Amino acid sequence: MPLFDVYLLYNVTPVSGKGIHVYDEKGTRYLDLYGGHAVISIGHAHPNYVKAISNQVETLGFYSNAIQNPLQKQLADKMEALSGCKNYQLFLCNSGAEANENALKLASFKTGKKRVVAFSNGFHGRTSAAVAATDNATIIAPINAQQAVTILPLNDIDGVKTELEKGDVCAVIVEFIQGVGGLDQGTTEFFEKVDKLCKANNTMFIADEIQCGYGRSGKFFAFQHYNVTPDIISLAKGMGNGFPIGGILIHPSIESKYGMLGTTFGGNHLACAAGLAVLNTIENEDLITNVNKMSEYFIDIAKTISQIKNIKGRGLMIGLEFDFEVGDLRKDLIYNHQMFTGGAMNKKLLRILPPLNIEKKHIDQFFEALKKALADIKINIH
Ligand SMILES: Cc1ncc(COP(=O)(O)O)c(C=O)c1O
Repeated sequence: MPLFDVYLLYNVTPVSGKGIHVYDEKGTRYLDLYGGHAVISIGHAHPNYVKAISNQVETLGFYSNAIQNPLQKQLADKMEALSGCKNYQLFLCNSGAEANENALKLASFKTGKKRVVAFSNGFHGRTSAAVAATDNATIIAPINAQQAVTILPLNDIDGVKTELEKGDVCAVIVEFIQGVGGLDQGTTEFFEKVDKLCKANNTMFIADEIQCGYGRSGKFFAFQHYNVTPDIISLAKGMGNGFPIGGILIHPSIESKYGMLGTTFGGNHLACAAGLAVLNTIENEDLITNVNKMSEYFIDIAKTISQIKNIKGRGLMIGLEFDFEVGDLRKDLIYNHQMFTGGAMNKKLLRILPPLNIEKKHIDQFFEALKKALADIKINIH
């Protein structure tokens, strides 16, 4: 049976991973500066993670949400302690799109309204409401287009004010650092005014922290670089270090009702064990401090490379912008220098999303390879 052919694949077959590296079937080692799309937070096959999941699957891998599962409460308490989001409530699901779908649904339940405001170049996933709030017409099917969504340019505060004052907007959803779009960020003034406008107009402010959250920005959540209080925070990717888990943190002002949200797999025992191992490792290895140190080290070197025209992002979510499209550069880095990097909608941007426990020596290796690859590319172009 053929696979439904929707992914453009590189010709690499990783079969194992350890820390910042993955290995293919011939044992060739690749440096992973892409983290499987910002998913690998604590490194491949981290021993505590392997142990936690192995123990759990031996004990009880899954039971439904119809019984008591103390692991969910442990995960929620650990998240509260590490994120500093006091008194928020946790709902667990399985992926980023599902987290945003639930966030948007909850905003609509809470406000009784149904229009959503989102921003150009944003990405929120591929389920119906989430994809409708995603600014990419090619992934929106007719069935998704029935959602009422207004897409505004990032930083268009007058536009946000005009739309919210119409009184029918249930949610504003924003990535505090755009991932797929290309690492653009709104201004502090913009984010803080959006927060106030939401509060003044009974609109839920949703922080999509699926890519920029979980320590990647240098704080637990990227919105914490600003003076804002989101009503709902959506999570996935780094939360499970590869185990599928997502969730939303819900402000205490939003009350739950039985049956309002639900899922079969969300919050299962194995997923919670993975999620707890990730949080414990972030804490025990002080990974957010490492993010800030490594980010500074990385950016200082990036600044010395003349071909890099612009450095975007924050923490270990970094965009290197060139004055040419980076497709060939990424291929050269993979096939000739054994390094994974990411791309973005902005074709001139190389996206760097390494595991949060990356070390200086890996960054040095990357820049050595990048310099060589830039020279290779130059030879190919001329
Ligand atoms: C910011 C953001 N939101 C939502 C999603 C969707 O997550 P998933 O692919 O787990 O559904 C992504 C995935 O790239 C993302 O980057």
